[in-house]
Amino acid sequence: MKKRDFLYLKDLSLPEHDALYARAVQFKAERRQGATHATLRGKTLACVFEKSSTRTRLSFEAAMVQLGGHAITLNAGDSQIARGEPVEDTARVTSSYVDAIMYRTFGDDRLATFARHSRVPVINGLSDGAHPVQLLADLMTVRERLGGPLSGRVVAWVGDGSSNMARSWVEAAGLFGFELRVAAPEGYRPPADEVKAAGGRVHVLSSPKEAVSGADVVTTDVWTSMGQEKESAARLKAFQGFCLDGALFSAAAPSAIVLHCLPAHRGEEISADVIDHPRSAIFDEAENRMHAQKALLETLLLG
Ligand code: CP
Ligand code: NVA
Repeated sequence: MKKRDFLYLKDLSLPEHDALYARAVQFKAERRQGATHATLRGKTLACVFEKSSTRTRLSFEAAMVQLGGHAITLNAGDSQIARGEPVEDTARVTSSYVDAIMYRTFGDDRLATFARHSRVPVINGLSDGAHPVQLLADLMTVRERLGGPLSGRVVAWVGDGSSNMARSWVEAAGLFGFELRVAAPEGYRPPADEVKAAGGRVHVLSSPKEAVSGADVVTTDVWTSMGQEKESAARLKAFQGFCLDGALFSAAAPSAIVLHCLPAHRGEEISADVIDHPRSAIFDEAENRMHAQKALLETLLLG
């Protein structure tokens, strides 16, 4: 069987995305009833982190254990990665021990090199250019909260349009056929080629209010992503006026939900009252990481 990577959303077909969603919903319901699974018995996942994590680490480790398998976490700082071992060698060696690897790294070129040198499936656990496993959970949350197909929905992104999260939303809009309005200051917009590839589904705007007006889903992310810490003062200045607060959220559709991948900075990119709003789906979204990733692991490991 040829190994299958999941580096971007497009690495699964639309029918596979639908099947993954259905399986994730089933996992969620069964977990509520206390059901147990053993579909990945004897399988091992390595989780390799070159950036910090709470949700991604815990949700992948728990997913593997709850499916009867194992997970091993390797953090760059306490491994040879931080001492400069080439990524090619890390990929070759790690993939000789395990059945799949989740990899969180910086540049997408590094992710591609790692995947090329791994002989087992590689899952992108966040890179500078994408966060596809987060989008699996986000899209699941939209479908379970709002019902109906994703196509035809209007999603508003407010804030850093150049971030990994925004770029994965751009990819999702093109794949699933919903309208994405990105409100971002100049210099922080999604790459033009990625907007173009989304086939007219993505509208880049300057006004948060215009983006949010009547939207079904409103979402944002931190203004300074991991690896950009030196830019944080400049970013704080550039994003003034782009906070997702209660007044802005009230411009969305009356049934609109709010998403944030977390971790969040309350009072910076999003206000505390919006995180804790009755129509916030943020903590469901975080829980759904595990259900969606169980379905992804089965897809890649069992076919
Ligand atoms: N949303 C997300 O990926 O969170 P962590 O950085 O905690 O893994
Ligand atoms: N854009 C953020 C997402 C964290 C889950 C980052 O890359 O730091």
